[in-house]
Amino acid sequence: VYASGRARTPLVDVTEAMGGRMRVLAKVEGTPDGGSIKDRTVEYMVRRAMKEHEGISAVIEASSGNTAVSLASAAGKLGLEALLFVPGGSGIKAERARELGAAVVETPAGEGTAGAQLRAEEAALSMSGSLYLRQHSNRANPMAHLRSTGPEILHEAGPPDLLVAGIGTGGTLAGLSGFFRGHGTLSVGVCPETGTEIPGLRRLDPEGVPIHRGLSLLPVLEVDPDRAEWWRRRVRRLTGIDAGPSSGAAAAAASELVLGCSSGIAVVVFPDHGRNYR
Ligand SMILES: Cc1ncc(COP(=O)(O)O)c(C=O)c1O
Repeated sequence: VYASGRARTPLVDVTEAMGGRMRVLAKVEGTPDGGSIKDRTVEYMVRRAMKEHEGISAVIEASSGNTAVSLASAAGKLGLEALLFVPGGSGIKAERARELGAAVVETPAGEGTAGAQLRAEEAALSMSGSLYLRQHSNRANPMAHLRSTGPEILHEAGPPDLLVAGIGTGGTLAGLSGFFRGHGTLSVGVCPETGTEIPGLRRLDPEGVPIHRGLSLLPVLEVDPDRAEWWRRRVRRLTGIDAGPSSGAAAAAASELVLGCSSGIAVVVFPDHGRNYR
């Protein structure tokens, strides 16, 4: 059971939409009211830091994605201030984080994510009682999946033969592949094709993203955004699950993998809801 008593996310049978003979279960992390898989990682990272360090009063992160929204929401719940640095022109999620009570500071658009990270670093150094989350290198990020997502899947389905998850920070894949190591599970990552973008996902970058260093031995499938969207819509039509673009990418990759299998169980992670993009 997840440390905060949070309800388990559903594991939904999507076999028919996948078109193969392997049984495919989707771990659906997006709630219709806008939650995402980052709700678990952020809350876990913050609670863990609060256990390890006394006197934390504010949490800082450079993010304009799901992490920003989750951080705003977790901070509210835990009585902390949330301070987000986002590159100028960031979309609706930064706005949503602001609505949830976070202070959102826009950094020059031309400086990109690196600029936002630098400002976050500076702010963390100058504010006592602040915690800079650093989700891309925070070891509690994969740990959240070792402690909650993995056990939930195991409890409901047993160890899967195949596990498919998109790679952003790499926390989901690192945590789940670690959890199912020794269970005979093949863990496969999903990333956007070179030169394309799928929100929440990125290509493996072991030099730039510390959590990616642990993923270099795993197979990774590349998906282009059009195919991801085609699969996102197919899943919605055939199962009723309204998931986001990275879920479409994961479904596309899973559909390819299950073709070669005549039995067994696959689990595919759907990180968020399609509503987060409309
Ligand atoms: C929509 C979406 N999908 C997938 C991911 C990837 O998750 P992780 O960071 O655990 O690799 C993210 C992370 O930001 C995300 O926002």
